[in-house]
Amino acid sequence: MAAQDLSSKEIFELEDQYGCRNYSPIPVALCRGEGIFVWDVEGKRYYDFLSAYSAVNQGHCHPRIINALKRQADKLTLVSRAFYSDQLGVYEKFMTELLGFDRLLPMNTGVEGGESACKIARKWGYEVKKIPNGQAKIIFAEGNFWGRTLSAVSASSDPSCYEGFGPYMPGFSLIPYNDIPALEKALQDPTVAAFMVEPIQGEAGVVVPDDGYLKKVRELCTKYNVLWISDEVQTGLGRAGKLLASDYEGVRPDILILGKALSGGVVPVSAVLANSNVMDVIKPGTHGSTYGGNPLACAVAREAINVLLEEKLCENSERLGHVLRAELAKIPKSMITTIRGKGLMCAIVVHDSIPAYEVCLRLRDAGLLTKTTHGQIIRLAPPLVITEQQIKEGVAIIQKVFESFAK
Ligand SMILES: Cc1ncc(COP(=O)(O)O)c(C=O)c1O
Repeated sequence: MAAQDLSSKEIFELEDQYGCRNYSPIPVALCRGEGIFVWDVEGKRYYDFLSAYSAVNQGHCHPRIINALKRQADKLTLVSRAFYSDQLGVYEKFMTELLGFDRLLPMNTGVEGGESACKIARKWGYEVKKIPNGQAKIIFAEGNFWGRTLSAVSASSDPSCYEGFGPYMPGFSLIPYNDIPALEKALQDPTVAAFMVEPIQGEAGVVVPDDGYLKKVRELCTKYNVLWISDEVQTGLGRAGKLLASDYEGVRPDILILGKALSGGVVPVSAVLANSNVMDVIKPGTHGSTYGGNPLACAVAREAINVLLEEKLCENSERLGHVLRAELAKIPKSMITTIRGKGLMCAIVVHDSIPAYEVCLRLRDAGLLTKTTHGQIIRLAPPLVITEQQIKEGVAIIQKVFESFAK
């Protein structure tokens, strides 16, 4: 059976029969992508307004990133960390200088970034903060999402993420998001090593905290000698309109986690950044990954970030985010109750009278792809290479689909 000969229906049936049913995709079978567009196996073109959950910020198959991949793939792909490669140090220097941290720990997926950050924080808690052994706590915000490992689901407040997967990681606790008094109360416990938080909660439905929240988080974490871990796997690298979403408030965390768009959607690349006083608690043999920091990942990530910077995609995201929300605001309030977001990280909350999943199916039929999260919320996150004209074309499709519910 040749993959290129399959119809959409055959593709749906194959996954349904042979795959673990851990996802319920929108029924569309894609075989090609370029910039902001993807094509299904029948040749129909779609605007991609999800960007692989913000991994494809630079657009699908960006020629510069793909060329970097090809060049490196012809030379050397993996050495493990048993040896040095000519790519890793260059990439680490580039990233740390760009983001203003001393050191970078290379990992692969976003959730490994989160796991690594928690390990670093616990070790720092014992070695530097002198928390009694085995008692270190990490505080998370309700509504967080940082992946699917046992640690990540242990930190989750969403029953569909954690139910049936216990026993859970000890030493994790939750406070409400965007709640500074609750944070201050939690941080007074001297066994707290870290507070891990997303600057904007993506999977929760693009929940934007009050202005000043991150500044306050920074102040309180400093005051109580607790590490602030900022999970910018989704918000970072231009998605929210700045290189880092925390740039809006001019603050830096103690530990930064990046992933997704770090490779422009080409290979899994994540990174944890911190200064030496924190990162140096990790010694040879205490943490690692066979693929983490592989030459292919380093070459791809360096080019992906150069594309982001040279094509001014953060600026484009910030500017067009305003355009996107202004255009969406023209849709009647009786259909969309809330529009929120920063940069091109946007969500609409669909009025209860209109089934949001059905909206996504009609959007697909009309040539635009996105998906719901938590029932009535639809995320709108096109690649950051999108133009103003294309934003308007996308919103025109969205508008038409909502009008079809009025009939
Ligand atoms: C904020 C955040 N952190 C971490 C992750 C996990 O990333 P990955 O799926 O690459 O493990 C996600 C994934 O959606 C995320 O949105």
